Amino acid sequence: MSQRIAVVGSSNVDLIMKMDRLPKVGESVSDAEFRQTFGGKGANQAYAAALAGGEVTFVSCVGDDSYGAQVIENMRGCGANVEHVYTEPGVATGTALIMIGEAGRNYISVAPGANYKLLPAHVARAGAAIDAADMLVLQYEVPVATVTAAAERASALGKSVMLNLAPPRPITDALLRHVTYFVVNETEAAFACGIEVNSDANVRRAADALRAKGAANVIITLGEQGAFAAGADGAAYAPSFKVEAIDSTAAGDTFCGAFAVGLLEGRAPMDAARFANAAAALSVTRIGAQISIPTRAEIDTFMRARERP
Ligand code: RIB
Repeated sequence: MSQRIAVVGSSNVDLIMKMDRLPKVGESVSDAEFRQTFGGKGANQAYAAALAGGEVTFVSCVGDDSYGAQVIENMRGCGANVEHVYTEPGVATGTALIMIGEAGRNYISVAPGANYKLLPAHVARAGAAIDAADMLVLQYEVPVATVTAAAERASALGKSVMLNLAPPRPITDALLRHVTYFVVNETEAAFACGIEVNSDANVRRAADALRAKGAANVIITLGEQGAFAAGADGAAYAPSFKVEAIDSTAAGDTFCGAFAVGLLEGRAPMDAARFANAAAALSVTRIGAQISIPTRAEIDTFMRARERP
């Protein structure tokens, strides 16, 4: 089966401060290390899918500032089709301020800029590319109307639709009914169904509740606990890989991109989640979003080494 993936979502420039520990409110922490890199949940997922082996078309909006051209050039570098990355006049490219502290924990603040200019009209302009894809991948960092228009379009054609509810914002059951794979972390799951994901029983209850709302399959990512995948064929945990985490930025995005490729390669959700866990584990051993995402060769080598009896 081909692995054509259309990703509709955000693009950011990430301004990263890496420090020994995160500051408290009102406190200054000096001696940080600064890096300017490329991020945005949509762009990260497109990048991860392309590096994992997918044939990716990315649909996004950047500003007409110098960052916009850099974002497009960088995305082209991973092999994604950038024909539908639109440059909006008079607006800044999305920007994220990221502070990374102890054990890879982070604070992220995003100025959406051009990301909020990605509208249903752009989905229509990119329609042929979305229609030609085997799977549509979405996040929640662009207007909900845009996410909805893309999901409705792909599901009307019987395509698989993956939606990652990041950042968490309200979602209707009507939109969830178009979603084949709903990927959420603990916080996003609790936000979407009102059940705190703090025990095995509650992980299962949350997944059931989200499936009852309309999502065909629910995948709850649980950091070091791996991922829980629930669908019509049953539910199971995909264990994580132990690594020394230095930055968790884009771990969820790496998971989503690799998960999409794993599914399109014909793996069952639980196996695709294991593959995606490997990609995410590698990403947290490096600083940054797209610069931390592993290639397919790296994922395969890592899995072989970790799964050797
Ligand atoms: O998920 C990580 C991403 O969130 C960062 O790359 C940042 O741009 C924000 O969108």
